[in-house]
Amino acid sequence: DTGLRDAAKHTGVRIGTAVDMAAFNADTTYRDAINREFNSVVAENVMKWGEIEKERGVLNFAAADQLVDSARANGQQVRGHTLLWHNQLPGWLTAGVTSGEIDAAELRQILKRHVFEVAGHFRGRIVAWDVVNEIIDDNAQLRDTIFLRLLGPGYIADMFRWAHQADPKAKLYLNDYNVEGINAKSTAYYDLVKQLKADRVPVHGFGIQGHLGVQYPFPNNVLDNVRRFEKLGLDTAFTEVDVRMPMPPDATKLQAQAYAYSALLQACLLAQRCVSFTVWGFTDKYSWVPGVFNGQGAANLLDENFIPKLAYDAVKTTF
Ligand code: XIL
Repeated sequence: DTGLRDAAKHTGVRIGTAVDMAAFNADTTYRDAINREFNSVVAENVMKWGEIEKERGVLNFAAADQLVDSARANGQQVRGHTLLWHNQLPGWLTAGVTSGEIDAAELRQILKRHVFEVAGHFRGRIVAWDVVNEIIDDNAQLRDTIFLRLLGPGYIADMFRWAHQADPKAKLYLNDYNVEGINAKSTAYYDLVKQLKADRVPVHGFGIQGHLGVQYPFPNNVLDNVRRFEKLGLDTAFTEVDVRMPMPPDATKLQAQAYAYSALLQACLLAQRCVSFTVWGFTDKYSWVPGVFNGQGAANLLDENFIPKLAYDAVKTTF
């Protein structure tokens, strides 16, 4: 029996998963499945700033390096997630900014150093970085974060310029949720990318997370949306796909889930420059969904016993 990576091989599209490094080290079934099914990986948590620099000035790359080494040994590309996100920041950073001990000038230096340290550490080993994650909010405005507040909108271009200097070969992405279809938020990204391009900022890709749920309408015009970003000269990728459902699962929900996975993948396959389709975890045994969305779960391709669900077969057949 062959995995998804074999099914995907004839396309230009990589099939990827987020990896939970605690599970990776504890569960050989999990680890074996990653190598059988996927030719791309991304760290679910261990490349985030708050994980790498828990104590100011003390960098811990151990878990992230382990993932990158394993990927190399197993013929997998690595996506980097993420250089900047308003969640999972180091406690010392948010506390320092809140108390006023860290002012705007210092924050800018800290941010620049962070990009050079992390992107520099992995230089040449990361195919694509999510340089900025979730920087536009659900009202289609630049998200109110410590970075926007202290540094102004120019921090976005700075992030891309610094990342490009630190790792000139990595493709540099913006990444967000609720941007699968054409809507106010994805249009705000479209306008932002246009401006960044006009300003000659090194931006190379648009990452569409793809966190869907069977109880919500499927997003509108996904392929048209992907295509409009490609027309701006960007690569595209689906970066965090999962399709949650109100628990417990039943045949109807599992069918709707299979449809949603397949429809997103079809948009990627029909586009010109969609380079990868990454799921945010692949087994219901290890999923962020139940902890965050009350009463929901079963969002992944395999169940908690690693048995393929309808969605798994749908993805395989769609390739
Ligand atoms: C999530 C992880 O899956 C969880 O383990 C963690 O507790 C919180 O972050 N969008 C993103 C990801 O870009 O980084 C998030 O990952 C899920 C939503």
